[in-house]
Amino acid sequence: MLVLGIESTCDETGAAIVKDGHLILSNVVFSQSMLHKRFGGVYPEWASRKHVDNMIPIIDEAFKTASISPEKIDLIAVAKGPGLIGPLLIGLNTAKALSFSWEKPMIGINHVEAHLYAAMMPHSNQLLFPSLGVVISGGHTFMVLIKNIGNYELIGQTRDDAIGEAFDKVAHILGLPYPGGPEIEKLARKGNQRKFFFKPGRVKNAPFDFSFSGLKTNVMYSVKGKNSKRTDPIIISNEEKKDIAAAFQETALSDIVDKILLAIKKYAPKAVYLGGGVANNRRLQDLLQKKLENHPFFLPPKDLTLDNAAMIAGLAYPVYLKNKKADSLSLEPMTRIPLTSAPLT
Ligand code: KG4
Ligand code: ZN
Repeated sequence: MLVLGIESTCDETGAAIVKDGHLILSNVVFSQSMLHKRFGGVYPEWASRKHVDNMIPIIDEAFKTASISPEKIDLIAVAKGPGLIGPLLIGLNTAKALSFSWEKPMIGINHVEAHLYAAMMPHSNQLLFPSLGVVISGGHTFMVLIKNIGNYELIGQTRDDAIGEAFDKVAHILGLPYPGGPEIEKLARKGNQRKFFFKPGRVKNAPFDFSFSGLKTNVMYSVKGKNSKRTDPIIISNEEKKDIAAAFQETALSDIVDKILLAIKKYAPKAVYLGGGVANNRRLQDLLQKKLENHPFFLPPKDLTLDNAAMIAGLAYPVYLKNKKADSLSLEPMTRIPLTSAPLT
């Protein structure tokens, strides 16, 4: 089964062609992050306009790279949410137009569920259930118990900022460009994490929930002074910036790993599947290796960690086989998809 995937939930325009849920024939992504750098975050209206410019050329390129013609496609899969309304509409309307004119079925896919599937994709014939799913991206931070693809139980989520968002905001405080995650990681490598002490957020009576907003504020007070505001000037040296990046990164990532360990203890999952941009972080990968010891964990291949359409096309395969039906062309974008609903899709 050949699936064309389309991704446009935020600032990446993506098109991919994937066979049988795992064989990637093409995976084309145009990241707008360079364009949004000057705003210190994603500027939604501009993101929408760039999706309009790039969507069709990127779909063309996905077909060219895969050496496939549109008639060969069995299904069109599009990220229906969660995401920004303008960008979502571009992807969804493109998918609907292609579905109508090519007379191919179309389904909408949950973008965050696809982030989890990205870690499963290379092993889709030998998945381990029940497992723990952990999404750590710019827009989401949560843990689910995965009973099967499409059958999830939410066990914890962030009460405020997503972890990637915290990396981006702390980078901004330190005067680093967007997206901040890779910048913090780079700076942290040269710093001493013991020079500053930050505490991870705790949520009363919810041991698996996350909170990164207090941590971010503490970093700001260390960088700009007690009770400072975002617009206040930086009062620390460049050397101290490195130490703060290292201490923040260690606190945020250890919090993720500690909560994974706690969930392993309580739920005894057969494996852990992680997804989302923060899974790119090498320090996180080292911590997982060290602390999870022999417990199996799976990260997505590098080109599937950030937003991409291959994970959308990949997840569409098991979802379509299970549901045995396409979505109607009146499918609406969903800026939010409540995490409590199981299945997610
Ligand atoms: O999954 P993703 O592309 O977007 C969402 O769906 O939200 O993740 C983007 C996020 C950004 O916040 C970025 O700063 C973060 O992932 N990120 C990282 C790293 N690479 C990307 N955070 C920490 N360390 C990294 N190496
Ligand atoms: Zn994403």
